[in-house]
Amino acid sequence: MSSEELYLLYHGLLVPKETHSLESLKFAQDFTFKDDDVVAVVYPKSGTVWMQEILPLLLNGGDLTPIHTIPNWDRVPWLEEKRIELVVDKLASPRAMVSHLPYQLMPPSIHTSKAKVIYVMRNPKDVMVSSYFFHQMAGFLPDPGTFDEFMNTFLEGKVLFGKWTDHVKSWKQTELGDRIMHMTYEEMVQDLPAALKRMSDFLGRDLREETIQKIAEHCSFKTMKDNSMSNFSLVPKMYLDHDKSQFLRKGVIGDWKNHFSPEQRARFTSVIQKELENESFTLPWSLD
Ligand code: A3P
Repeated sequence: MSSEELYLLYHGLLVPKETHSLESLKFAQDFTFKDDDVVAVVYPKSGTVWMQEILPLLLNGGDLTPIHTIPNWDRVPWLEEKRIELVVDKLASPRAMVSHLPYQLMPPSIHTSKAKVIYVMRNPKDVMVSSYFFHQMAGFLPDPGTFDEFMNTFLEGKVLFGKWTDHVKSWKQTELGDRIMHMTYEEMVQDLPAALKRMSDFLGRDLREETIQKIAEHCSFKTMKDNSMSNFSLVPKMYLDHDKSQFLRKGVIGDWKNHFSPEQRARFTSVIQKELENESFTLPWSLD
């Protein structure tokens, strides 16, 4: 199917029709955050599903029941997706959600409530590789074409939720003060217990070292890959075909080095650097 058939256009952003509707986007726009809500905002393929595992455990002190009994999409729903309307009233308090929305499309209640935001960012080269394989397995997304063609599509922002640089820029300059914390996928891969401790402190949870270690074990790539509530094995093949690629595919830093040619590496870096050159922030990692 063509992009036109598979995507809705929402404020200039492409969003998949399979999981989103004009009603669900309106629901997100009108959403009333509660003061103790937590939302992880993640550009697609940067660790969203990982945060759906982590947040309930940090918020409930390590009780494994939600991650063993509720599929990730209902456990920590996407603010803008169709499912949220069906499950929002059943969410345990404090509620945890995820979102792919850029800052300017968040509902106004993000400003009037005391809800907290964790923004997770990942090296865009690895995001692009992850996204390329995801497009191969996801029946509700357009065929990515060749790797080189998809690189152009990605750099032009003709992918779900738009350009990576626009997303990152929007969330770097917010008026949320100490209600937002920035996290990187790489920090989580390198030292998950330390990243969990930083997040739990931000969320005002005073978790013991052994609880942090237990959460880290249950949120490891390997454990999540075996958890049917988190690995999307419950989703019919026509939507996600695990014979083509796994959702929990590699879970590493730097897989782009296995896929980019020297020319692609230079092109990609130059486009991203140019789009960020006038920004006042620096990226937490070298693009190379
Ligand atoms: P790869 O395709 O590089 O393996 P999202 O949930 O935003 O779609 O992001 C998916 C990416 O996060 C995939 O990257 C997936 O493997 C990775 N991921 C999910 N859980 C992870 C974990 N526990 N540890 C490391 N990476 C994880």
